[in-house]
Amino acid sequence: MGILGLSNVDNKGIGRRNILVRPPEPPEEFLMNDPTNAIYIGRTKIFHVPFNWTFQRVTNPHIAVVGITGSGKSYFVKTFLTRASFIWGTNAFIIDWAGEYKDWVKQAGGKVISLAKGAYINLLDLGGMKPNDRVKQIMRTLGILTDIERYPEQRRLTEQAIEKAYVGAKFKMDSKTQIDGLGRALKPPTLRDVQRVLETQLEQGSYEFPAELENAIYRIKQFTREGEDFFARQSTINLEELTKVGLVDLDLSGLPDEVFRGLAGLSMLQFIKEKMREEGWSPTKGLKLIVVLDEAWKIAKDDNSDAVMIVREGRKYQFGLLVASQNPTDISEAIFSNVGTTFILRVKFERYLDYLQSTLNFSDYMRREVSRLGVGQCAVNMAFQTTAAFSETFLIDKIEGEEPMQELFLDFAEATGAEGDADSNVASFERDELKKKLRSYGLSDEQTDIVVEIFMKKNRHIKAGPFVVLLERYGIGRTNITEFLKDLGLEDAVIINVLSAADSLKGQLGDQDITEYVLGG
Ligand SMILES: Nc1ncnc2c1ncn2[C@@H]1O[C@H](COP(=O)(O)OP(=O)(O)OP(=O)(O)O)[C@@H](O)[C@H]1O
Ligand SMILES: [Mg+2]
Repeated sequence: MGILGLSNVDNKGIGRRNILVRPPEPPEEFLMNDPTNAIYIGRTKIFHVPFNWTFQRVTNPHIAVVGITGSGKSYFVKTFLTRASFIWGTNAFIIDWAGEYKDWVKQAGGKVISLAKGAYINLLDLGGMKPNDRVKQIMRTLGILTDIERYPEQRRLTEQAIEKAYVGAKFKMDSKTQIDGLGRALKPPTLRDVQRVLETQLEQGSYEFPAELENAIYRIKQFTREGEDFFARQSTINLEELTKVGLVDLDLSGLPDEVFRGLAGLSMLQFIKEKMREEGWSPTKGLKLIVVLDEAWKIAKDDNSDAVMIVREGRKYQFGLLVASQNPTDISEAIFSNVGTTFILRVKFERYLDYLQSTLNFSDYMRREVSRLGVGQCAVNMAFQTTAAFSETFLIDKIEGEEPMQELFLDFAEATGAEGDADSNVASFERDELKKKLRSYGLSDEQTDIVVEIFMKKNRHIKAGPFVVLLERYGIGRTNITEFLKDLGLEDAVIINVLSAADSLKGQLGDQDITEYVLGG
């Protein structure tokens, strides 16, 4: 007679027994949502089921996107926003840290607001709030971005000065009215007024710790200096309409540093959150607004950021937050562990994989797959409202975007002396990658556009020698050019030949314009 025994087996053990394994993909009814009320992403890897994203069955509409540089995060975001706008009429507000989205937004007919290039935000704008509430927010923002929390007395002085500035501008601290007794519109004070209040206090000389006052003034002055007063003038943008006009890109790339960028990002989140609460709920299909934070780690990481509050309350108001980052640990846990959907593009650092696997709880199989995804391929994790008897993480063969890849080719056959064999003598890169690189070498947007245009006119192929001369004419140094060629996979010996071909071309060119030469040749 046989003996039937019971043994304890953990999940992994069960997973290894093939008989019990179901493929890591949710059933079709969870993936194939009504295409007129969901956003098409791509087909699943195993069963090739079309996946239409919606937030109906997940815990909330918020999304995190993670992946190494070049894995396709921004491409996904663009595709997603385009379709959300088409399907639901969703507005989008992009907090664009590196100015990555502005070309696309312009092209798509949206509005680009470039701070530091003519656009200003008054930090003391009320955005529909009572001055009392706004003061608290401003202090919270300064707490995140400056060292003010370490100096309670300076904090108190600053807070008081902001209040005085509002009162001086005839505002009532606990009222939302923005008109005076005679019905005239009140103008909010600015940081300059705050600075003046503090300076007057110092001049009066009655305060017993002048050093504290001086330091408080010094801190505010960082934001009021001529040429860096991006937040110390009356706003040039209409906060009221920004969440309703379709696609808006707040380009922060022109601001001098992370503190300024953070100040802009945090303030906009505060205004948006306020708008969200004010509008309340209404029976709309889909999402009303998606707020995008791409690589904005300073404001996505801090638990006091209003991004966290949008995540907490967004679902009720059909406001979604979309955070994208190369580093998942740069997203506050309060956000990361509360998003309904995570799109995981290629991740290769073990540390990040550990974090993702333990937070999202996927299998070792999935972990391996994630570490070798190609551009545009991803795993999706969805936190379904009801406990799911299937894998909540599944693979998408390719995010099927609107915009095809644009490959450009550099021909270096001359440098290897093997002209005939075409394929092994070209290196290729993606158009936007080239633009990004050239910008990082200091070229302007117009200049990068010209370079790309030259490629397009030459049927997307340029010879390496003339290309090097072209870059040099734009002021890019040999070190950067060499690094660029190395990144393309060219061997040292080939690079040396390319550079010497460039040198002899320069001699040959004399006065002739290199652009003319390339286009003519
Ligand atoms: N699904 C896709 N289909 C076709 N092309 C794609 C896809 N995903 C990305 N690409 C292309 O790959 C390149 C890199 O993508 P993208 O700029 O989105 O990367 P990223 O993850 O945002 O990188 P970074 O972290 O550096 O900003 C882009 O030129 C883009 O057009
Ligand atoms: Mg990107």
